[in-house]
Amino acid sequence: MTSHPFYLDCDTGIDDALALAYLLASPQADVQGIGTVSGNVSAAVGARNTLDLLQLAGHAHIPVALGAHDPLAGSFGGGAPWVHGENGIGEVALSASAVGLAAETAAEMLVRLAHQHPGTLRVLAIGPLSNIAEALRLEPELPRLVEEITIMGGAALAPGNITPVAEANIANDPEAAALVLSADWDITLVPLDVTMANVLEESHRQELLASSGPVPRALGEMLGYYFRFYEGIYGRPCSAMHDPLAAALAVGAVKPALAPVVRAAVDTSSGPGRGQTVCDMRGLYAGYPEVKGARCRVVLSLEEEFAPHLVDALLDFFEDGEGTTAALASAGSAA
Ligand code: BDR
Ligand code: CA
Repeated sequence: MTSHPFYLDCDTGIDDALALAYLLASPQADVQGIGTVSGNVSAAVGARNTLDLLQLAGHAHIPVALGAHDPLAGSFGGGAPWVHGENGIGEVALSASAVGLAAETAAEMLVRLAHQHPGTLRVLAIGPLSNIAEALRLEPELPRLVEEITIMGGAALAPGNITPVAEANIANDPEAAALVLSADWDITLVPLDVTMANVLEESHRQELLASSGPVPRALGEMLGYYFRFYEGIYGRPCSAMHDPLAAALAVGAVKPALAPVVRAAVDTSSGPGRGQTVCDMRGLYAGYPEVKGARCRVVLSLEEEFAPHLVDALLDFFEDGEGTTAALASAGSAA
């Protein structure tokens, strides 16, 4: 199985933590570096969470770079503690990693990795797009150096989750998102249309909690917090699976059933549409014919249910495989 070099850009975040663990567990992904950005929590708190999770998972060697604290316009709004907890990981206390931050910014790390792996680096962006926009400014050739970019963000036909039309990652830095979506590359967009339709149930959470591995157990505890927020939306304890689904699509482990390639732009006005991903979905009426010049593959549905695959992948790796040995040898346990 081919393993692709990956750069992960995240705002860790409960579902970011799941995405990170999933990537580590994926034989198709070789995570070369991680950058953080303010979103669910500040970039600094997200970096701390990422370092601690990497240590718990026995992957403390993966470098973590601090990224943008503020969006391109305005300033960081304080995150989403009502969704992810004050510490961003559902108030779960992880052992503090002794490893420090990389001596480069997240955008610099992305540019460096793109040059080290020309044509093969895959980028997975699961937070606001501030770092990716900055990397495009630093290296205008980035679109030609990167093999693929997958973004969790936006809403194509579905409503938003932070305003009636805007999804959080895009709404937290619309100017950056507009730059990234208009750059000269093909994008896979994983919007709320598909992430809200793929939920993790309480039975899945119980499977994680029952694991002998510290990583699945910690994730199961974090999900308890996340489920309480999503219970207000779905009416039962469960949650959407935004970021891990984007990770699974990026590695190619799950396949889209419907994913039209359309033109997409971001509303950067100051009106009620600010942060909306304006995806041209008019092809819906004609079975989505090919559109000349369109670059954004919008994932609308999957071939198979995602949650069982996610849970199996995490349990297989962190309970039976390399992840268990590494984690138990190096980590301590989640509180
Ligand atoms: C996205 O926003 C963040 O809260 C999540 O981590 C996810 O990346 C969902 O809108
Ligand atoms: Ca995220």
